[in-house]
Amino acid sequence: MQCRDVSELASIAPDVSLAPGVRVSAFVNLYGCEIGQDSRIGAFVEVQRGASIGSRCKISSHSFVCTGVVIEDEVFIGHGVVFINDRHPRATRPDGAAQEEGDWQLERTWVRRGATVGSGAIIMCGVEIGAGAMVGAGALVTHDVPPGAVVAGHPARVRRIEYVAREGSVARD
Ligand SMILES: CC(C)(COP(=O)(O)OP(=O)(O)OC[C@H]1O[C@@H](n2cnc3c(N)ncnc32)[C@H](O)[C@@H]1OP(=O)(O)O)[C@@H](O)C(=O)NCCC(=O)NCCS
Repeated sequence: MQCRDVSELASIAPDVSLAPGVRVSAFVNLYGCEIGQDSRIGAFVEVQRGASIGSRCKISSHSFVCTGVVIEDEVFIGHGVVFINDRHPRATRPDGAAQEEGDWQLERTWVRRGATVGSGAIIMCGVEIGAGAMVGAGALVTHDVPPGAVVAGHPARVRRIEYVAREGSVARD
């Protein structure tokens, strides 16, 4: 069987902003998002509308980056990382009708420059993972992570402050 161009196997909507040098694997699903220069997106990653990924990031396979997530430059996202943007999700409104946009409250999340999120981590909405921080594999992050902190566990707790944050991370807006 002849191997096809990977772009044929990826779903990239016309409204996606891809900077030069972005590498996208097969079977990704990207729509309404921005991806910065030289970033790499692994197979089976979904990046939703309004999410943004900075430059020189690596997003490993099977991760989900939802609306409201801002990932700054030089961030590593492991395999199967799940971001959350709705703290109290419901399929329907109180009257039983299907929920539409505006029926739920979006909570944004920031991953600051140079941070790492280990495989299988779950990032609750409304948190900020500080510059250079390291989130352990399988962690459940429910609070802000200080810059340079190593956190792990359920819920994630600070184990130590180790990694030196690089300059250039912007303050929370
Ligand atoms: C959190 C992490 C950075 C800690 O690394 P480390 O400082 O070298 O830690 P150690 O391996 O020395 O373990 C120290 C302790 O933390 C525990 N620990 C390590 N990682 C843990 C994790 N993710 N969750 C809970 N506990 C963890 C260890 O069991 C050990 O406990 P013990 O002293 O009771 O035996 C690392 O284990 C990790 O999870 N890295 C992410 C890896 C990843 O997801 N890579 C993705 C690409 S493949």
